[in-house]
Amino acid sequence: MALLLKNAHVVDPSVELDGVVDVLIDSDKIAEVGENLAVEGAEVRDLSGKYLVPGLVDMHVHLREPGYEVKEDIESGTRAAAKGGFTGVCAMPNTDPVTDNGTVVEFVKSRAAEVGHCRVYPSGAMTRGLKGEAMSEMGDMVAHGAVAFTDDGRGVQGAGMLRRCMDYGKMFGKVFMSHCQDEDLVGHGQINEGKVSTRLALEGWPAAGEELQIARDIEIAKLTGAKLHIQHISTAHGLEIVRAGKAAGVQVTCEATPHHMFLTENDLDETYNTSLKVNPPLRTEEDAEAIRQGVIDGTVDAIVTDHAPHTPWEKAREFELAPFGMIGLETSLSLVLTELVNTGKMSMGRMVELMAIKPREILGLDQVQVKAGSVADLTVFDPSATWTVGEDGYESRAENSGFAGRTLTGRATDVFVGGKQTLADGCIC
Ligand code: DOR
Ligand code: ZN
Repeated sequence: MALLLKNAHVVDPSVELDGVVDVLIDSDKIAEVGENLAVEGAEVRDLSGKYLVPGLVDMHVHLREPGYEVKEDIESGTRAAAKGGFTGVCAMPNTDPVTDNGTVVEFVKSRAAEVGHCRVYPSGAMTRGLKGEAMSEMGDMVAHGAVAFTDDGRGVQGAGMLRRCMDYGKMFGKVFMSHCQDEDLVGHGQINEGKVSTRLALEGWPAAGEELQIARDIEIAKLTGAKLHIQHISTAHGLEIVRAGKAAGVQVTCEATPHHMFLTENDLDETYNTSLKVNPPLRTEEDAEAIRQGVIDGTVDAIVTDHAPHTPWEKAREFELAPFGMIGLETSLSLVLTELVNTGKMSMGRMVELMAIKPREILGLDQVQVKAGSVADLTVFDPSATWTVGEDGYESRAENSGFAGRTLTGRATDVFVGGKQTLADGCIC
């Protein structure tokens, strides 16, 4: 039966929509968009007061399956994604076995089709076993549906290795996504190197450890002509380097996480909260402000979560022994609305570009547009719903949110993936 979504405020800059219109969904597609639609026989849902946008995509998510299902699996990770308003996620390849060949890509895809609450776009490793020593089976992975290459969790340490991966792999037309971290310079760095690391007696992870590889990778993208995407950028200077690369015509894009925008090293204190241990680390207030500005002015292309679930017992270890990462799927949209949109710093249209349009463009996915004929991947949210992070637990198997206890305004209520509802009134379908 056709479904008529009435009275939502629809925002989709790709079709210059920003106003109240009705949207008719028929099977997996949008059948009609217009004012005061009346369709005989259609089920009607009133979405007055809510926003409806093209389905959000998070292009940086760790679903942990295969291998680390104790932290998260494809079912629980995509459930968290649906709860957060996402219609699709790009899964990172640091699984066990590593997603470095077509068989593992096929497993992730088929598992997602079986148990997923949203679309899963698998990425494949650049190097075998993420070891940085030999190229992965890039062609095989693309043939099985990999949308991007990345050694996320690690940077490719050898410049020559990165060059070979890009030179060979660019024929597949996919983007190379770089986690930038010079391991020799960063060593066992735990948090941003500076006053806070000194005060807390934790080894420092210097900004230059990230910036060096951002600069290097942009040079290698220029050399090879490959498409480069800088992951979870965290420093003001790193952003300057990307800005310069873009201005020079290099095919480079970048992403930022809510935690690098809305948390800083100053949130770390003598309680040694390991949920705040992330890689790259939380930086200074100046860095966070520069990232927020970059998001607003277009230097940052996409907002991603780097959703990195870990078990409570892993995160209960001493700070130095706890793994890096925090979950983010269930808070990302709400944080962006609360901190950037509701405060008037950024438009709703820009949010849609950062969280729906650009991620699809960078990953080479078909765009979703709020117009007749488009696939019905849609996100609906209540801009005034107020809630407290963690109060009602999480859909994710993990609980390592760095935002626990924060009160946010704005939350996803309904999600449609190919016309099929995955979230209804805030509940997983
Ligand atoms: O904080 C992080 N956690 N950063 C990464 O790059 C990897 C991720 C993980 O896999 O836990
Ligand atoms: Zn990473």
